[in-house]
Amino acid sequence: MQMKECVFIDGVRTANARAHAEKGWFKNVKPDQTLGAVLKALFERNPKVKPEDIGAFFVGTANASGYQNDIARLTWLSHGFPERVPTQTVQNQCPSGMAATIDAARAILSGEEDIMIAAGAEDMEKVPMGANMAFPDNFFNRYNMLEIPMGNTAEKVAKIYDISRKDMENMAMYSHKKAHAATVEGKFKNEIVPIMGHKEDGSEFLVDKDQWVRDTLDPEKMATMKTPFQADGRVTAATSSPLTAGAAALLMMSREKADALGLSYTYKYKLGVQEGNDPTIMGMGPELAIKKIFKKTGLTPKDIGAYEINEAFAAQSIACIRETGIDKDNAPFDKVNVWGGALALGHPLGESGARIIVTLLNVMKTEFPKEKYGIATLCGGFGNGAGVLIEKV
Ligand SMILES: CC(C)(COP(=O)(O)OP(=O)(O)OC[C@H]1O[C@@H](n2cnc3c(N)ncnc32)[C@H](O)[C@@H]1OP(=O)(O)O)[C@@H](O)C(=O)NCCC(=O)NCCS
Repeated sequence: MQMKECVFIDGVRTANARAHAEKGWFKNVKPDQTLGAVLKALFERNPKVKPEDIGAFFVGTANASGYQNDIARLTWLSHGFPERVPTQTVQNQCPSGMAATIDAARAILSGEEDIMIAAGAEDMEKVPMGANMAFPDNFFNRYNMLEIPMGNTAEKVAKIYDISRKDMENMAMYSHKKAHAATVEGKFKNEIVPIMGHKEDGSEFLVDKDQWVRDTLDPEKMATMKTPFQADGRVTAATSSPLTAGAAALLMMSREKADALGLSYTYKYKLGVQEGNDPTIMGMGPELAIKKIFKKTGLTPKDIGAYEINEAFAAQSIACIRETGIDKDNAPFDKVNVWGGALALGHPLGESGARIIVTLLNVMKTEFPKEKYGIATLCGGFGNGAGVLIEKV
C-alpha cells in the first residue's frame, strides 16, 4: 500500500470542569457522557460523515478503570453507534489522547483506514489519579518511590533546571490572563461543545467555558500559597495543573477520502513522535519530543508558528521551553500556549493530548494563518513524552 496523507477535518472538546465532588461543574456528568457529547458533535458538524463509515474509534484515557474502563467501546455502544466499528482504549498516562491520535493517523497514513476518530477523555474525580494502581516489585529497586509522584517530579525539575517559584507564578499569571482573554473574546467557540452541568448549589446550566480560568491572579496570595508536594518546595496549586474533567475528539481522514467527500481542511498530520525519559523528571518529555521532531524533519524553532505545550506544571513547561530555545525565557511567551495552557484551562490527563491538538488547529488558523507548522506536545507519568507536528496544506 502507498503512504497516504492524513488531514484534520474537525476537532471539538467539552469545556474542562473542575474534578470536585461538590464544586465541579461535571460532578453529575460521567466521562462517557463528555466523550459521547464530542462524538455526537463531530457527526452533527460533519453530516457527510456517517458513523458506519468510521474505520475505528480510538480513545486515550490515563486511568482505564471504573467509569473509564474500556471507555472507547462502552461509550461508542452506549450512544447507539454501529457495532461493526472497532474501538480501542489507549492507555499511555497523560499522552493517552495524543497516543490515540498518533495511532489513528498511522492507520490512515499506512492506507489501512480512510476515516478515523481519535479522542481523549478523563474525569479525575470519578476515576482519581492512581486508581487501582500497583507497581511491579522491581520498579522501586530502580527508582526512589518519593521521586515518582507527579508533583515531586515537578519539584525535581524545578531544582535541576533552576526554575524559580517567581517564574512559575509569572507563567501561571499569564496562562490565566491569556485563557481569560481567549474565553471573553470567544476564541474557544469553535472548539467547545456546550453540555449541561451543575453549579455548586445544584442548579443546572450550560457549561460552555473552562471552569478553572481566573480573570485575575493575586501575586501576593500566590507567593504565600503552601507547597503541597514538598515542605521546602517551590510548586503550589497555582503552578500545578488543576484536577479536571473533560473530553476532546478529532475527525481525521485520508486526503483522498476528504476530497472525494468534498470536505475542506487546512492542516495535515505531518509527524508524530514518542520519546521515553527518566520517570523522576518525566515533565521534560516535551523537550525530547520537540528535539526529535526537529531532528527528523530538519525544521528549526523559527519554522514553527505556534506551540501547544501542556502545562502539567509550570516548572516542566518553562524548563522545556528554555532547553529547546523555542520562545523567550519567561512568560508571556509569544508562540507557546497563546490562548493559555493547562495551568488555567485544566489538564484532564488522557484528554489533554487530543485537546491541545484541537486547540493548536484553531490557534494556527486564527492567530497564525500564514504559518506552515505547529507543534503540540506533552509529558507523561513514568516518563513517556509525545508530540505531533501539523502542517498547513
Ligand atoms: C496541586 C494540587 C495537589 C492541589 O490540589 P488541592 O489541594 O485539591 O487544591 P485545589 O486545586 O482545590 O486548590 C486549592 C485552593 O487553592 C486555590 N487556588 C489555586 N490556584 C490559585 C491561585 N492562583 N490563586 C489563588 N487561589 C488559588 C483554589 O481555588 C482552591 O481553593 P477553593 O477550593 O476554595 O477554590 C492538585 O491540583 C494536583 O495534584 N495537581 C497536579 C495534578 C497532576 O499531577 N496532574 C498530572 C500532571 S503530569
